Amino acid sequence: MIINKKIHNVEISNLEKVNKLLLKKDLDANILIIDQNLKSNKYIKKLISKFGPRCLLIKGHEKIKSLDNYCTYIEKILKIGVQRKSKLISIGGGTIGDFAGFLASSLLRGIDHYMIPSSLLAMVDSSIGGKTGLNSKYGKNLVGSFYLPEKVMICPELLNTLPNRELSCGFAEIIKYSLIKPNNFKKRLLKYDFKINSDLVSIIKYSIKTKINYVDDFKEKSSHRSSRAILNFGHSIGHAIENSNLYKSNIKHGEAIALGMLIELKISEYLGYYNKPIDQTMNLLKKFNLPTSYENYLSNDKIKKLMQKMKYDKKVSDNYINIICIDNKGGFIKKLSFEKLEKILTKII
Ligand SMILES: NC(=O)c1ccc[n+]([C@@H]2O[C@H](COP(=O)([O-])OP(=O)(O)OC[C@H]3O[C@@H](n4cnc5c(N)ncnc54)[C@H](O)[C@@H]3O)[C@@H](O)[C@H]2O)c1
Ligand SMILES: [Zn+2]
Repeated sequence: MIINKKIHNVEISNLEKVNKLLLKKDLDANILIIDQNLKSNKYIKKLISKFGPRCLLIKGHEKIKSLDNYCTYIEKILKIGVQRKSKLISIGGGTIGDFAGFLASSLLRGIDHYMIPSSLLAMVDSSIGGKTGLNSKYGKNLVGSFYLPEKVMICPELLNTLPNRELSCGFAEIIKYSLIKPNNFKKRLLKYDFKINSDLVSIIKYSIKTKINYVDDFKEKSSHRSSRAILNFGHSIGHAIENSNLYKSNIKHGEAIALGMLIELKISEYLGYYNKPIDQTMNLLKKFNLPTSYENYLSNDKIKKLMQKMKYDKKVSDNYINIICIDNKGGFIKKLSFEKLEKILTKII
């Protein structure tokens, strides 16, 4: 399961550089997968035309991460022709990255994956750490592999066309980094003025560094404060919200995580770990146009349904769940029985 490629090769780049690199050699061996929503960008247009039939355009969406779609694309790529030296290059959001990563990890038992994330969420989160994934009818990301991309090239200019709501979803994960590892990063977020500028690039760089610190050693099983599990802050409740909402687009992942973080902060406060005003975090979420009211998903009559959904979480063992709590040093793992969690939820909402 743990593979010996441990180096995170991430660089801040630009599309001109990426084009030069991709068009330099092996055009007849490499495969390019691009999110259709990017096709009007002049650099992307050039790549599409130069790669010709070796370029596959896919509309980035959660639905592409299916087993059926995987079979379709594996056969398509094998038909186009692939060799051990081939690279699979993907340019797109987190869905394209997760899907292409799994294709790369399984084609000919693994070919190199070059990843160019195009959404903010993909730049600061899904392109880092080497998790690939497909969804099953039993749940999200239940099929996948750990497969680090050979190279991740971040081109912030791609964010110029990203819809605002998607930008906000990326900020939900960035706000998560500011809570699990408190320092003056939060202040930088409060000052940020929504421009695609050097401030945003430095926010992206800091976020990537933070994530790399948690994923460095595939520390998933450790219970230490640097464990990969800390990155799940906001996600136990957030995933249950997404799941009970049937993954409909009225609430996107980042939005569900924003609500999940608020609720998990309230749990931390209730247990006596968190003693800062929760309003501060609420205001930060509001600044980035993220939701802060959870009545539609968590009310007394909905707690049981939400608890049921949490039981399918990958972080559940027996009758216990690991919730990430926050104290003045940041995130840590708190094991709670479902019974206790249900009682707490009833008290805090
Ligand atoms: N592997 C991991 O560690 C990891 C971590 C977090 C999330 N994820 C996965 O990431 C996925 C979510 O990623 P996402 O939010 O990027 O979703 P996404 O790929 O669906 O992209 C969101 C939307 O933005 C569009 N888009 C992307 N870049 C654009 C651009 N530059 N200009 C215009 N439109 C653009 C896409 O076409 C899509 O409509 C989920 O499947 C989640 O499970 C994986
Ligand atoms: Zn997330």
